[in-house]
Amino acid sequence: MSNDIEMAKVLAAKEALKYIEESKIIGIGTGSTVGVLLKEIKERGFRDKVFVPSSLETALVLSSYCLNVANTISVKKIEIYLDSADEVDQNMNMIKGGGAALTTEKVLAYFSKKKVFLVDYSKLVRRLGERQPLPIEVIPQFTSMVLEELQERGYKATVRTASKAKYGLIISDLGGAIIDVTLPEGKELTEVEKELKSIPGIIETGLFLNMVDILIVGWKNKVEVLKR
Ligand code: 5RP
Repeated sequence: MSNDIEMAKVLAAKEALKYIEESKIIGIGTGSTVGVLLKEIKERGFRDKVFVPSSLETALVLSSYCLNVANTISVKKIEIYLDSADEVDQNMNMIKGGGAALTTEKVLAYFSKKKVFLVDYSKLVRRLGERQPLPIEVIPQFTSMVLEELQERGYKATVRTASKAKYGLIISDLGGAIIDVTLPEGKELTEVEKELKSIPGIIETGLFLNMVDILIVGWKNKVEVLKR
């Protein structure tokens, strides 16, 4: 990763700390940007806060920093959710799921009063799907059927497999398989979401539409805070 992108992540993470100060129960996403945020959180203390992690990875890091980690079963509402994204378009719609945590991330974001996303400038795109496919989470036993169905409907789709340390499918923390779907140009995102969610076997998609309240964009030497 370039130094500029690393710096942009740090600046965005520092800005995001403001939103943590004003809340007690805080949902936290997954990924390298969130990793930078977690380091900033550790520096600042925040021992009185309760963090609701979107993945085992985030839970592990939080607990290694001696921060309070809640199990989702004990939480009814979250005051604020902080996470990053793989791509963000001009309408603040996003693709998420590069780290295969999309389902928990979407649930936590939905049940949070305020949703704050922080990205470095390299995540901004003109059109979602322009750089990478859309991850979807699928019940593993139905991977072949879902894949076939997607291909019959004209989607280019591939099952995500591990590159090392494991043979075969990537299985998420929730036990789902991940299929990466190329987003067709010119198709309405709401239509894609509706269509994918109508296929049994698909648990969730990484399309986050109208889910951002505040978008923090980190640049090499500044941050931009955009509100919906
Ligand atoms: C995990 C995600 C991440 O937010 C997304 O992949 C961005 O990760 P990174 O900060 O490492 O670029 O959706 O499921």
